[in-house]
Amino acid sequence: EEGLHFIKHEWPQEKLLKGFDHASLRRGFQVYREVCSACHALDYIAWRHLVGVTHTADEVKEMASEYEYEDGPDDEGKMFKRPGKLSDFLPAPYPNVESARGANNGAAPPDLSLVVRGRHGGPDYVYSLLTGYVDPPAGVEIPDGMNFNPFFPGTQIAMARPLFDEAVEFEDGTTATTSQASKDVVNFLHWANEPDLDTRKKMGFQVMTVLTIMTAISMWYKRFKWSPIK
Ligand code: HEM
Repeated sequence: EEGLHFIKHEWPQEKLLKGFDHASLRRGFQVYREVCSACHALDYIAWRHLVGVTHTADEVKEMASEYEYEDGPDDEGKMFKRPGKLSDFLPAPYPNVESARGANNGAAPPDLSLVVRGRHGGPDYVYSLLTGYVDPPAGVEIPDGMNFNPFFPGTQIAMARPLFDEAVEFEDGTTATTSQASKDVVNFLHWANEPDLDTRKKMGFQVMTVLTIMTAISMWYKRFKWSPIK
């Protein structure tokens, strides 16, 4: 089963000459950190990746240091705890997939690094899923621990609705409605999936510009060279 068609948004990063909205990425990371990270890991993102994307280096160092990491062995062969630093990866909520399943009714919350280009596809899918929780239609029985969401393939999902109006409070004053927080976290997860999208687009644009100019020059030069013969 495929579920409903997704709600379509004009994501700036999906446009030819535009990149991510960085104010939205900053809010989106806050949503991930305060809500989603309780259950979902972001395995491919280290603190340092956030520098210059969502926060300044000092802000990221400060956030990283609020978490404890195991390190070692030290001179005496012992493991020890220390505060997080820029080179650490974001902490995962569960040590392994068994404990992730155990804590969530048998369905492990997937790593979100690749979810925007993942199995069910696209920022529109994740946005629709987050804003799409509704009561099941009359006559549809939902087993205990499961939730109805018409955008999830099969319509029964182990994740309860994670976002509600004002579930977070944005420091830039943006009102954190469910749809706003969903949009922001989807933007952030899209960045986590394709962190080099901005650079790649800029590079592509530069390459096309240079190639166009060089083509024009060589066309002009060819005509100039051959004009006495014609
Ligand atoms: C599944 C995103 C918060 C537990 C998913 C999926 C997405 C997602 C996109 C579906 C992936 C797929 O298509 O297979 C998010 C986001 C969150 C969030 C963006 C924060 C805003 C949470 C929280 C929990 C949780 C707080 C735990 C209390 C789960 C579980 C699944 C899941 C157990 C697996 C569902 C199943 O396969 O039936 N999440 N999630 N999520 N999430 Fe979340």
